[in-house]
Amino acid sequence: MIAILDFGSQYSELIARRIRETQVYSEVLPYRTTAEQLKKLSPHGIILSGGPSSVYDEGAPTVDPKIWELGIPVIGVCYGMQVMVQQLGGVVKRADRAEYGKASLHIDEEETLFPGVEDGATMWMSHGDSCLKLPTGFEVLAHTENTPCAAIAHPEKKYYGVQFHPEVVHSVGGAVLIRNFVYKICECEPTWTPEAFVEEAVREVRGKVGDKRVLLALSGGVDSSTLAFLLHKAIGDQLVCMFIDQGFMRKGEPERLIEIFKDRFHIPVEYVNARDRFLAQLEGVSDPEEKRRRIGHEFIQVFEEKSQELGPFDYLAQGTLYPDVIESADTNVDPKTGERVAVKIKSHHNVGGLPKDLRFKLVEPLRKLFKDEVRKVGRSLDLPEEIIQRHPFPGPGLGIRIIGEVTAERLNILRDADFVVRDEIKKQNCYQDFWQAFAVLLPIRSVGVMGDKRTYAHPVVLRLISSEDGMTADWSRVPYDLLETISNRMVNEVKGVNRVVYDVTSKPPGTIEWE
Ligand code: XMP
Repeated sequence: MIAILDFGSQYSELIARRIRETQVYSEVLPYRTTAEQLKKLSPHGIILSGGPSSVYDEGAPTVDPKIWELGIPVIGVCYGMQVMVQQLGGVVKRADRAEYGKASLHIDEEETLFPGVEDGATMWMSHGDSCLKLPTGFEVLAHTENTPCAAIAHPEKKYYGVQFHPEVVHSVGGAVLIRNFVYKICECEPTWTPEAFVEEAVREVRGKVGDKRVLLALSGGVDSSTLAFLLHKAIGDQLVCMFIDQGFMRKGEPERLIEIFKDRFHIPVEYVNARDRFLAQLEGVSDPEEKRRRIGHEFIQVFEEKSQELGPFDYLAQGTLYPDVIESADTNVDPKTGERVAVKIKSHHNVGGLPKDLRFKLVEPLRKLFKDEVRKVGRSLDLPEEIIQRHPFPGPGLGIRIIGEVTAERLNILRDADFVVRDEIKKQNCYQDFWQAFAVLLPIRSVGVMGDKRTYAHPVVLRLISSEDGMTADWSRVPYDLLETISNRMVNEVKGVNRVVYDVTSKPPGTIEWE
């Protein structure tokens, strides 16, 4: 295990992911973690992350000085290196010239850190401070034009420091350097594999849950589906999945989900058909926030009623992932028992909060995983590819892709239009080229002509986008032929649509969804 002490860098999570890509487990911990606490975790190595502070600022964060007595290899990255230098007796000062962006790294000593990294490799720099004097026992391993101490080491103690960011993709050879630290210096074994994770998670869940019953709100997305597969492997039919069909899913999706879970994998799913209830809630409502609020509220109602009907349950399974854990720290911990409790169902169920008297204990076996690791675990549990690769889909589903009031008729039109988009990009083998690909139905009508007849029907907006994480996005520059085929099919196959427009707005300033 590699422990990352986080000084607030935007890259700390990324360092953890890079380490895990080498099949070694790593965790992001607060920089205040004491040597005693670290000792209990017995990491093979410690990484001090970057951060926004300057070591000579008053109250600048540092690590517990006892960490330097643990005998564990340490590498400091950027601010982390400066903390190391200052705490061990060196001097850090504001650099004559700050260095941001790419720089060529000149390796002075290949040693253990740089085998496999080319001399002159491009590394990503982002610092205004520099190391002026090294602590005793340290030597320079590499420099750049502006930074004489771009990489340093105390070889006997196995302390290393790099002023650049090996974890970002622009750093050529950064991944090799990380591997060298993990394997050559820390002597880790490649034990972080999906199979090993599943084995341990199954053991842990069995130990925690015993013979009690667990309820899971299944949405059909990759997180809740992987969770269901994992828990079913661990506790069999003590798991009950509740799938609430709000009527806002895509064409054929509820049926397909039941087919996969119940028929193919024999995982118990309680299908709750709540289509009419949700539609009734949305009657006459066209304000986007009000629509979301009502959908969320109705979800809680249905969930509560059905869980009482099917219950009692001791545990609620939740698909919390590692980034949520890092962000929320331990705010949702019951002070009496120390266990995490559900005060909020994950936003993908789009629920504001659970009523106070409905407090379940939580089972969150995915809480150590990043999203890409969930996919790998899903694969190792034989979760079908169609679920693993499914585009993200918002909790309120098609309900927020019909602008204005949601009616049964409009839902039918949009469901068919959405089907055409997905069907066509799958046929043309480009489903994976998009982060999301969907249709939005506008409540207005425009005039068209089909055959010899005048039409007066809805326009559909086609939204094809690329993104890394949904936070920012760009509209996809697709071939005109693809747009043409989708447009043709949409107007010919979907009754109620006579026009297709393409959304060429990125995020920001637009959002991905229209509501
Ligand atoms: P926006 O529209 O904010 O969307 O750019 C960013 C990403 O989040 C998804 N999204 C939601 N997901 N519940 C969800 O689980 C929601 O209420 C919700 N609203 C938007 C959206 O599809 C995109 O991937």
